[in-house]
Amino acid sequence: MNHYSDYSPPDNLLQNRVILVTGAGQGLGRAAAIAFAKHGAVIILHGRTTKKLERVYDEIETLGITQPVIYPLNLEKASENDYNLLVQAIAEQFGRLDGILHNAAFLHGPSPMESQTLEQWQTLLQVNLIAPFALTKACLPLLKAAPDASIIMTASSHGQRPTAYWGGFSVAKAGVEALVKIQADEWSMLPNLRINALIPGAVNTPQRAKTHPGEIKKILPQPDDLMPAYLFLMGPDSNTVNGEIIQCQVQH
Ligand SMILES: NC(=O)c1ccc[n+]([C@@H]2O[C@H](COP(=O)([O-])OP(=O)(O)OC[C@H]3O[C@@H](n4cnc5c(N)ncnc54)[C@H](OP(=O)(O)O)[C@@H]3O)[C@@H](O)[C@H]2O)c1
Repeated sequence: MNHYSDYSPPDNLLQNRVILVTGAGQGLGRAAAIAFAKHGAVIILHGRTTKKLERVYDEIETLGITQPVIYPLNLEKASENDYNLLVQAIAEQFGRLDGILHNAAFLHGPSPMESQTLEQWQTLLQVNLIAPFALTKACLPLLKAAPDASIIMTASSHGQRPTAYWGGFSVAKAGVEALVKIQADEWSMLPNLRINALIPGAVNTPQRAKTHPGEIKKILPQPDDLMPAYLFLMGPDSNTVNGEIIQCQVQH
């Protein structure tokens, strides 16, 4: 299986591209936003907490390559109209959109299914599955007009191999894989539009620290270690890859 961990992108891989990264304020989303910007993309930094997005904005601006923009939106509460307003803002400011990294995720601590509430399930499905569907759908007119558009969803081993206590989060992430397969099939005849999913595996991020508090952080891979796979899937070298669920790390 190809993990694309040895992919070596040219510096200008994403030049002239406009890319939306959800959950860009920390962890893998932050690392991907910076990696995409380093390779020439203009980044729309989406997230929930403006302060975190401003820090990433400053990091990207310091690179002196492209100027990002910030678009805060709480995916738990977002309506169809909110997504349409986001797309309208992108269209007015840039007139194009070449890719989306759906990275934002939410989970409660692991717990037995019988103690998970309806409200928790609604939030888990809303943020982790329904939001990426709705945001992609709203962005379609711009994506279809792009010469080479790539959508990356973020899946999880908990979706692929559901086990006890991961409840609604596992179900949402399993749904992400189904969404990718269905959408890729529907787009199989479109040469300029593709959708794939990455499974990061265990990575040292704030989310990981919350769900696995006993883990020794320094032995985990860092978000930057996974960026070759993210760059490969976002850039033109993956333009024939569609409907794949890709593990970023070798599974033992
Ligand atoms: N880290 C791992 O080991 C691992 C393993 C497998 C899969 N993944 C997947 O990789 C992706 C990134 O994970 P991570 O560990 O980097 O996560 P993280 O550190 O928790 O970051 C998640 C991001 O999502 C944003 N977010 C959460 N709820 C939101 C909402 N309601 N509206 C808008 N934004 C929201 C957060 O914004 P705020 O900071 O503003 O709350 C945060 O920036 C996720 O899809 C995760 O499931 C991670």
